[in-house]
Amino acid sequence: MDVFEAMDTCTAMRYFKEDPVPREVLEKLIYAATRASNPGNSQGWAFLVIDDPQVKQIVGDKVLQGMAPFFANRPPGQDGVEERMLQGAEHLAKNFAKVPAWIVGMARKVYPPHDPQESFMHSTIYPAAQNMIVAARAMGVGTCFTTFPGHAEPEIRELCNVPEDLHMFVYVAVGYPQRRFMPVKRKPMEEVLTWNRF
Ligand SMILES: Cc1cc2nc3c(=O)[nH]c(=O)nc-3n(C[C@H](O)[C@H](O)[C@H](O)COP(=O)(O)O)c2cc1C
Repeated sequence: MDVFEAMDTCTAMRYFKEDPVPREVLEKLIYAATRASNPGNSQGWAFLVIDDPQVKQIVGDKVLQGMAPFFANRPPGQDGVEERMLQGAEHLAKNFAKVPAWIVGMARKVYPPHDPQESFMHSTIYPAAQNMIVAARAMGVGTCFTTFPGHAEPEIRELCNVPEDLHMFVYVAVGYPQRRFMPVKRKPMEEVLTWNRF
């Protein structure tokens, strides 16, 4: 698939089939992530793939506990699109354990070497995660960037023995899509592009 077609149709997927995603496919996603640009080529990233059903169940229960107040009190979406997005986000959280794999994007504070800064951890992990979701789309695999599993960070750290110096940033849900990939809806170019001067 052409890379522009993959980017154009790389919608966040929140509904997945339960079929497992083969490890070779998951490894290819990590390969794609690690091709990304990163500060000074410091490559301070690390990726934890969680596909163990027991771990997903424990983490999923904790996530749901953390999200329950939000789901109970959330205001309705401002329009149909936002409401569908919120419903999808709720579905994803409630079905955490059924998502075939979760990839946790993590980073170490290593850049610049003489005075490591927290901001460079973000610069490290987000381009990598974006590479990953575009590569997944090209392989017919659905993904959704999320942050809500942060509610279960202590449990993930303990169950998965995550080293202390790794900071957890993004939790990418991965699976074969149950719904169709759609064109992403973004602002028109004219609204966001300026040549030389505003
Ligand atoms: C850093 C980041 C965090 C996100 N967190 C969540 C999340 O917690 N739950 C969720 O359902 N979607 C999450 N998303 C997905 C966005 O909501 C989604 O990309 C956006 O609504 C646009 O939809 P589209 O990508 O399908 O076009 C996140 C995206 C990013 C980049």
